[in-house]
Amino acid sequence: MTAAPEPARRPAGTPAPAASGPRAALRAGLIGLGAMGRNHARILSSLDGVRFVGAVDPAGDPHSAPHGVPVLREVDELLDLGVDYAVVACPTALHEEVGLRLAANGVSALIEKPLAHSAQAARRLVDAFEARGLVAGVGHIERFNPALQQLRTRLEAGELGEVFQVVTRRQGPFPHRVADVGVVKDLATHDIDLTSWITGRGYATLSARTVSKSGREHEDMVAVVGSLTDGTMVCHLVNWLSPLKERFTAVTGERGCFVADTLTADLTFHANGAFATEWEALRAFRGVAEGDTVRYAFPKREPLVVEHERFRDAVEGKPSEIVTAREGLRTVEVSAAVLDSARGALTARADSDSGSGAGSGSGGPDPDVQLV
Ligand SMILES: NC(=O)c1ccc[n+]([C@@H]2O[C@H](COP(=O)([O-])OP(=O)(O)OC[C@H]3O[C@@H](n4cnc5c(N)ncnc54)[C@H](O)[C@@H]3O)[C@@H](O)[C@H]2O)c1
Repeated sequence: MTAAPEPARRPAGTPAPAASGPRAALRAGLIGLGAMGRNHARILSSLDGVRFVGAVDPAGDPHSAPHGVPVLREVDELLDLGVDYAVVACPTALHEEVGLRLAANGVSALIEKPLAHSAQAARRLVDAFEARGLVAGVGHIERFNPALQQLRTRLEAGELGEVFQVVTRRQGPFPHRVADVGVVKDLATHDIDLTSWITGRGYATLSARTVSKSGREHEDMVAVVGSLTDGTMVCHLVNWLSPLKERFTAVTGERGCFVADTLTADLTFHANGAFATEWEALRAFRGVAEGDTVRYAFPKREPLVVEHERFRDAVEGKPSEIVTAREGLRTVEVSAAVLDSARGALTARADSDSGSGAGSGSGGPDPDVQLV
């Protein structure tokens, strides 16, 4: 039910008003009212400059999430209301279908991560939005985490010197709602996106192993080792099989190590010790010593609010840093390479076990995947 009289509807695809002068509210919709969708509903209902006009979920609204807006069953009903943009938070397997429908109707979209279930689907989405000059973003929310924003700013300022290694760990228990993709596409895409973003480098090569223990079609544990285009080493451990929740990013370089915890939004710097050792035997060893540890203080705004503000500004035509659909595509491509590598390793092991020779040192699939 609408809480207040509706303003005149702007047909879908009509350009948003110019940024100067009093701001006319953008009309926004939401597609999917599940675990993530209800958070989007909360933000959309109070976002300055935006009028939240309706939400779509064929299952209705079990959480009283949409704050007085109509809950619709079909995307077309939302399009009939007239929207400038929509947030897509339905299951990943439906992102392509829903996104293409929005693009065909001239509606910009903030699509939850991962952009799509496959690289081909992600590419079709990028093409559709770019061809119509629409704004398309991806909900890689870690980029808006204050700890990672601080980390990136400090890396860009050269505080670490040369970067040697990025390590991430994203471990936790099983989320029963995710059934359409495995942990690589659902969770490791966060690690792939944030690693590229904080370093400003793409992936050059990687090798991965997966484990499937939950009895579902998809993997639920992955280990990835790779290198970025400048040679920086990366390592990601991501799973749904740990009875603890961890969101850890460590960047080690010439001057020490930054550690970001994106659960608490804390950033800590462990500096290399600067003192000269008097122990002659150690003088020849050029490794590091422990120095000071600093935990930084900085404002901690809710990442989802910042993500929405940036996207709204982009739809209004203002300069704004969003995660573009093209960047989201690249992340899906890297996640597909992770799965290719893991499959190659499994095949090599099966061949080796069966004594066919491949994978037993005489050739066979190479689990190292080149990305550039
Ligand atoms: N950015 C993040 O940190 C983050 C966190 C969680 C989920 N997500 C992403 O959000 C998306 C949804 O995940 P979730 O955890 O909320 O899943 P969920 O299963 O809790 O919710 C999905 C909702 O979509 C609805 N739905 C199904 N078909 C639909 C359709 N055709 N149109 C509209 N709605 C439909 C379902 O009824 C359900 O309410 C996924 O792509 C997931 O990867 C992102």
